[in-house]
Amino acid sequence: MEPTTFVLFGATGDLAKRKIYPALFNLFIDDKLPASFALIGLGRRDWSDDKFRGNIEQSIRDFSRRKAVNESKLAAFLQAFSYSVLDIGNLEDYAKLLGRIESREQKLGLAPNRLFYLSVGPEYFETIAENIQESGLGSANGWKRLVIEKPFGHDLQTARGLNAMLGKAFAEEEIFRIDHYLGKPMLQRFKVLQQSNPIIQTLWTNRSIANVQITANETVGVEERAGYYDHVGALRDMFQNHMLQLLMMTAIRTSTGSDAEVVRFKKKHIMEALEPLQKADVANSIVRGQYGSGYLQGQPVNGYTSEPGIAEGSMNDTFIAAKLSIDDSFWRGVPFYIRTGKRLKEKSTRIVIEFKEPLKQSSVSEDGAAEPNLLVIEMSPGESISLQLNTMGASVKEASKPICIDIDPGQGDLPEAYENLIHDALLGDGTYFAHWDEVEASWAWVQPILEAYEENSVPLHTYAAGTYGPAEADELLARDGYHWWFDA
Ligand code: BG6
Repeated sequence: MEPTTFVLFGATGDLAKRKIYPALFNLFIDDKLPASFALIGLGRRDWSDDKFRGNIEQSIRDFSRRKAVNESKLAAFLQAFSYSVLDIGNLEDYAKLLGRIESREQKLGLAPNRLFYLSVGPEYFETIAENIQESGLGSANGWKRLVIEKPFGHDLQTARGLNAMLGKAFAEEEIFRIDHYLGKPMLQRFKVLQQSNPIIQTLWTNRSIANVQITANETVGVEERAGYYDHVGALRDMFQNHMLQLLMMTAIRTSTGSDAEVVRFKKKHIMEALEPLQKADVANSIVRGQYGSGYLQGQPVNGYTSEPGIAEGSMNDTFIAAKLSIDDSFWRGVPFYIRTGKRLKEKSTRIVIEFKEPLKQSSVSEDGAAEPNLLVIEMSPGESISLQLNTMGASVKEASKPICIDIDPGQGDLPEAYENLIHDALLGDGTYFAHWDEVEASWAWVQPILEAYEENSVPLHTYAAGTYGPAEADELLARDGYHWWFDA
């Protein structure tokens, strides 16, 4: 891997502490960092290098997936870290930063490859990108990359504005937009399974698949993020990005070795083929919900509008279920059902592919009760891929019964999403990132929903905390003769 200077804006923040440092440490242990690697942390606080390193050490002890920390490795790892105070709006600070980076690069004879990671609020993106450009930080002979986190805009218009602004300083291939769902190991394993097995590839059409269900249920409520969440809701926080990305990744048909360009092209195609919603139809395909009070694991919990910091009478959505259709020759007629919400009965992130039952009438089972075949990708909290098939019961006369075959049982210590994504960004591999085309198309697709919500032309259903969401989300499938799999 090429020598890299990792320039981290927001180095004293929460995301860095919980995700970025532990991920870098695990990459280091797994020999997946460049041999010549330096990280310069930037923040407003006046920290020394030692204080910075002390904080990183603590974050690794608190949040690394590896339980036992190898002390000598940790000491070696921390050597790569230094800290600089930087006022995001002050161009002179960028000039000083450039001086520091250049002197290290020259001293060690390293190519000036620089990765700028913006672990800061989106309101700072524009100023930072401009100042990187102005100061010359981004115009050396090596490569430059920009890593940013969602939200990529608040709606279609603001997303376009943000992209145009970033585009002045970075080319599209240089921008790595993190959607951490794309880094989840079981999603990546599922893609490999689908790409490298002709059996599965053959089944990947509307001839074999009855429907696809994508669920991301959470037990947590709004937590301490009222100020953010009450302005975005489930639609912007989860659906426009994570859920549509899972839909695209499920629907695209790629083969082994498909690179970022192929994936980008295919995802764009899926978004273009996604049947658009008219504002007047939103209420037929979308279920909007908000949690009321209820019980979770036996404990009473507040309803959304009683949570601290939530505006009185807030109509914000904490749940969404949707039915989507892809109008192309592979997927025509196969509904994709998506749901996500907070304060639901259990944490579960999964994709279920339900296969058709073409032989149902002449089924071998005596009562015709054979269950459909299912391919199940469990992403959280368990990690596995399994296939549900039917086989004979204990005695010949018994009806067939479903059995579950583990194709890829989770192996316990899988890398975390951020490890996969940071590693790919260091390699310059954009396969598992959100590309502009699909971000723009996702916003365009959700825009009529945003407008319908604003006009309040979609009912807001209250659901009790600790359930699977509003009953209307079940009806969405029941209308087509289906049900959500694995709701207890
Ligand atoms: C984040 C959302 O992007 O994803 C949070 O902002 C949500 O609201 C989180 O809780 C869920 O991520 P995961 O990996 O726990 O499913």
